[in-house]
Amino acid sequence: MKCRARIILAVLLSSGLWLALKPTIQKRRITFLPVEWSQYLDRMDFWFNLIAFALLAAAAWLAFSPERRLWRALAWIIGSITVGNVLVEIAQTHIPGRAMDLADVVAGFFGAVIGCVGGLWVQLRCGRNESAGSPQVLFVDQTGRLGGAELMLLDLAIARAADSEVLLYQDGEFREALEQDGVKVQVLPLSGSTAAVDKQAGWLRVLQVVPELVQSVLQTALLARRFDVVYANTAKALIIGGPAAFLAGRKLVFHLHDIISAGHFSAMNRLALVFCANQFAHAVIANSEATKAAVHDAGGHVENVVVVPNGFKLTENRSTDAEQAALRANLGLPADAWIVLMAGRLTPWKGQHVLLEALRDVPDAHAILLGDALFTAEDREYAAQLRETAAQPALTGRVHLTGFRKDTQAFFDLADVIVHASVIAEPFGRVIVEGMLAGKPVIATRAGGAAEIITHEETGLLVTPGSAAELAAALRRLSDHPALASRLAAKARQTACDTYGLEAVRAKIEHVILSCASPTETHAPSTLQPVEVSP
Ligand code: UDP
Ligand code: GLC
Repeated sequence: MKCRARIILAVLLSSGLWLALKPTIQKRRITFLPVEWSQYLDRMDFWFNLIAFALLAAAAWLAFSPERRLWRALAWIIGSITVGNVLVEIAQTHIPGRAMDLADVVAGFFGAVIGCVGGLWVQLRCGRNESAGSPQVLFVDQTGRLGGAELMLLDLAIARAADSEVLLYQDGEFREALEQDGVKVQVLPLSGSTAAVDKQAGWLRVLQVVPELVQSVLQTALLARRFDVVYANTAKALIIGGPAAFLAGRKLVFHLHDIISAGHFSAMNRLALVFCANQFAHAVIANSEATKAAVHDAGGHVENVVVVPNGFKLTENRSTDAEQAALRANLGLPADAWIVLMAGRLTPWKGQHVLLEALRDVPDAHAILLGDALFTAEDREYAAQLRETAAQPALTGRVHLTGFRKDTQAFFDLADVIVHASVIAEPFGRVIVEGMLAGKPVIATRAGGAAEIITHEETGLLVTPGSAAELAAALRRLSDHPALASRLAAKARQTACDTYGLEAVRAKIEHVILSCASPTETHAPSTLQPVEVSP
């Protein structure tokens, strides 16, 4: 297409110049069109110019087919056409009987704008071949860091690496992890100000970054042309990937890892998410019943929402005694310390501060806070506050902040109990399942996905979110009653193995992808065949 567009561009340019400058050889005008046609065109000069320049701009756009820096390409093409147009108008003033016509310049400018938009539309819509085999999937995720949503996607993308690519809006260790396992990754980095628009952002912040968002949508749409399905894995990925999939005419699956509620998102973000999910998603995968219920409460359509929990590799592998001893020494943990592990990013709603508060009433316990502030400035401030609290006399030497670690298994193996302390509803809570699979007793807060994973007194203990007193009591109970801790841990491991195996979860997600991608299905979201899923 590029080649054909270049030929058309050359023809349009030369015939346009000929028509405008009306070359004269030895006082004889070489007319481009019969004179009466020219006179007729002169009478509809403005509209003729508009259409001619629209065609010229469309051909120019397709001839260069830009895929990145689209605003710059737009400015170059419109700018060059407008400047060229002005120069031709000036040249025309030297032709007897002709004068400069501002209306022609205006028509040329608007024609160029219309042509570029038209060229982009053709570029988006061309070359769409349905793939014959397994659907080609473009996974889209906003972050380069490794949060729970990204760890789930990592396993999915590795398993279908031959038929998928991952698009990230930030570079980082997530890309490295994907590439290490043979997954093809593209990074279209967002500028600092757009990346900093977080879940609590209001209208003003968003308005400032609209031009960049539009560019990201178009770039993503251009990339999406090669795939059958766009799979948005995070909120920002939906905001960008949703309209992009629509423009490219591709199916959209939205994997919802968040609870769309006031505690997690600003009003504007909730509106935008629900709008994009309702308008663009052919299927929504919610990671828990709580997440699905929140979609409904926020005004989202739930008929195309299926609940699929996160999946985990089921392994008997444990870290060795030597590895655990080394870790213990590295963290400065006494040999006989009773160890509480809280894994997860440091952010106020995860409630690490509640554990530190509870720890004051469990004097012999040591706590490991495994994780880092991953996403926002507020998170980093919170991490600094946690370090200050940890240095207070009642806690000195008992709180061990490790930062983000990839080798999490040894930490789980070392722990006597796993704590999850989110102060608002947790969408799912991978760390809870990881604790159960490690064969450790888990204490979690009674809300959201956590309350779906744990059955109180059977597979763990549930406490009221934000209650340090209840958490301390539950910790003392497990520390004082090792038999209870072992019973809960054994049942928890069995339940986790039965429910959260990666292969079964992957099959359910693949089923959703196939339902969307299958050419026999119609485009309506409601045609998705729901899968039976036990959370
Ligand atoms: N995690 C990790 N390294 C760390 C801390 C956490 O790999 O230093 C992992 C943890 O094992 C879990 C994920 O990060 O798989 C956190 O997922 P979760 O669903 O618990 O919370 P999220 O941060 O996604 O809200
Ligand atoms: C998100 C949620 C977390 C969930 C994870 C994987 O990061 O905050 O609760 O476990 O995604 O679905």
